[in-house]
Amino acid sequence: MRDQGAPHVVDRVLDRAVSATARVIATLGRASPTTASLSLLREEAAERAVASRRATLTGLAELFRDEQPDTPGITEAKNTLSRLAAEALVAMRDDVERAAAGPRAPIARLDRRWRETSTVELIDRVDFDERKRVRLMTHLDEMNVTIGAYAAFLDVLRPFLVRGRATRVLDLAAGHGGFLLEVAAIAQREGLALELVASDIADEYLAIGRRHAEERGLPVTFVVQDALDTTNLAPGAYDLVVCTQSLHHFPPGLVAVLTHEALRIASRAVVLIDGARSKTNAALIPLLGIVRYRDLPFAHDSWVSLRKFFAPEELGLLARCGALASPGPERSVESRFLPPGHLAVVVRSGAQA
Ligand SMILES: C[S@@+](CC[C@H](N)C(=O)[O-])C[C@H]1O[C@@H](n2cnc3c(N)ncnc32)[C@H](O)[C@@H]1O
Repeated sequence: MRDQGAPHVVDRVLDRAVSATARVIATLGRASPTTASLSLLREEAAERAVASRRATLTGLAELFRDEQPDTPGITEAKNTLSRLAAEALVAMRDDVERAAAGPRAPIARLDRRWRETSTVELIDRVDFDERKRVRLMTHLDEMNVTIGAYAAFLDVLRPFLVRGRATRVLDLAAGHGGFLLEVAAIAQREGLALELVASDIADEYLAIGRRHAEERGLPVTFVVQDALDTTNLAPGAYDLVVCTQSLHHFPPGLVAVLTHEALRIASRAVVLIDGARSKTNAALIPLLGIVRYRDLPFAHDSWVSLRKFFAPEELGLLARCGALASPGPERSVESRFLPPGHLAVVVRSGAQA
């Protein structure tokens, strides 16, 4: 979604500088040194946290077979999955802090202080002005295009595109569908065959997306869909199910539930993408919000989000809980830093695992 009218010349210069910096970071392809230094400890701690809950999680898969909203015990099963995943994350984080020795010990303590915030993003507050909310989302979109984030998200999907027919892609909690609108524009340029559906629980965001799709002549469909209950859709209804930049807005346990619900309807893969927790970017992005977009709520929310985002191994852990609790063969779950500032988790569906 773009603001009407071309940006001022100073903003264009700034955009070029930001874009060039993002390209350099993407070429280096590394998370910040503090994130990287805890990566192995996080992987090991995630492994232990999952191992001790594996039997209970796989036991839930039986309850989720032939899942329907009115299946007896389904709400309870979802609550159990959510609780187990949330507990696994806490156990993993505690474990990392206990295991961190030498120079890693203060890094782990600082990370805990950094991520522990009770501040709510303005965009999640019902009393936040609608116009400012839309403006903020527009600026987030613009920044993502400038730093090449949406193109990087699409690159994660590329290995799963179907040959010989259009790939069916569903975006959950898509807001106004900024990502899929950009994917549609890229697909038109590259001649990719995609059937793009942006979904959200709030129709007022979808309405904005619909309008933008029409204005830009882009083939994206917008539908209301609860990301935490996909039983209205047939199993395998889509090839790819994605969720971008929304996961930190959900309580951690519900990320596992969302993964499970996404796996129900994805025949190839579920791709989860969110920002990466970062202190370095917290010094840069809010500044960009003020200088480039003159948008204080954007600056506020980017600061809060950069504290709330997950580390790659944490999001991977939550997705693994959701995958283990899903019927079918065990799925492979890969999590990684996605330069310049995001992280991606790929869960291969049964047939692709
Ligand atoms: C940060 S916003 C949208 C982000 C969007 N994916 C993007 O990249 O710009 C988070 C979205 O999650 C949606 N949401 C919250 N709970 C949901 C649920 N249970 N099912 C579907 N969408 C939900 C909200 O309506 C909101 O649009």
